[in-house]
Amino acid sequence: MSGIQRVGIVGAGLMGSGIAEVSARAGLDVVVTEVNQLALETGARRIEKSFERAVRGQKLSEQERDAALSRLRYTTNLDEFADRDLVVEAIAENEQAKLEVFTALDKVVAAPDAILASNTSSIPIMKLGMATTRPAYVVGLHFFNPVPVLKLVELIPSLLTSEETLAAATDFATGTLGKTVIRSQDRAGFVVNALLIPYLLSAIRMMESGFASVEDIDNGMVHGCSHPMGPLRLADLIGLDTVKAVAESMYEEFKEPLYTAPPLLLRMVDAGLLGKKSNRGFYDYQS
Ligand code: 3HC
Repeated sequence: MSGIQRVGIVGAGLMGSGIAEVSARAGLDVVVTEVNQLALETGARRIEKSFERAVRGQKLSEQERDAALSRLRYTTNLDEFADRDLVVEAIAENEQAKLEVFTALDKVVAAPDAILASNTSSIPIMKLGMATTRPAYVVGLHFFNPVPVLKLVELIPSLLTSEETLAAATDFATGTLGKTVIRSQDRAGFVVNALLIPYLLSAIRMMESGFASVEDIDNGMVHGCSHPMGPLRLADLIGLDTVKAVAESMYEEFKEPLYTAPPLLLRMVDAGLLGKKSNRGFYDYQS
């Protein structure tokens, strides 16, 4: 097993809770933090529901579930991250908020060789590293939703990330979590979102222009290309606020018209129609 035993997760949203779950299932000691008690409890419930689903699907025994749950701790106090070997930041895709988290972690996490990782989809790791006094230990570890199901982790070194940090982060993702790692340069969108986001935006534009219906666009890609879900359902799964934020980071970096968020996406986010997590996006999830 890798030297990483104590993991901290900042953010208990869709991604943070998934990363916490797979880490606890892999036998690690996990502390999860959120900005307030309500967000923390929502995250804890999401993790518990996912464990129940795994038990129901016979992927986990009840004993394994109980053991994994006992390795998870929740707190709103970042000071409890002092003894962590690795922290994964997984808050919303907001650069200023992420910079503040990295500055705070730099002060709190005691071991000088602890790794501070970000699950960002698009914000430069270099900027996050420079918010700390230890950019050699800052790295991107980008997971995919749903984290317990999808095998991929993108590993993103900044210009200053050390080889030791990369080796330890790779060992954590592959050896401990059993994920498949691909490496990307530190550019907005990395590998997967650089390909995926223009596709999702094109589907939204297609629907917005009246070219085809939501269902027909999705059925086209499911039945015509064997994708597990169509682009509009996938945008709902990712969260339309996240799709918008990633598109905007990519546009800021490259000024490529393909990356501009279509007006319909902007209006849906304004309206709070964020996809599955808000029960409504391109589809209705109330029932
Ligand atoms: N947690 C745990 N297990 C889950 C799960 C979850 N949230 N969701 C689904 N599963 C498991 C199910 O238990 C089931 O397992 P089984 O086949 O062994 O019984 C399996 O996954 C399939 O689930 P379902 O039968 O319920 O549903 P589907 O077959 O429709 O699969 C899906 C659901 C796994 C979400 C599949 O549709 C899929 O892979 N979709 C594409 C997701 C994708 O592309 N994600 C990447 C988003 S991009 C991203 O995250 C990056 C960010 O930066 C934007």
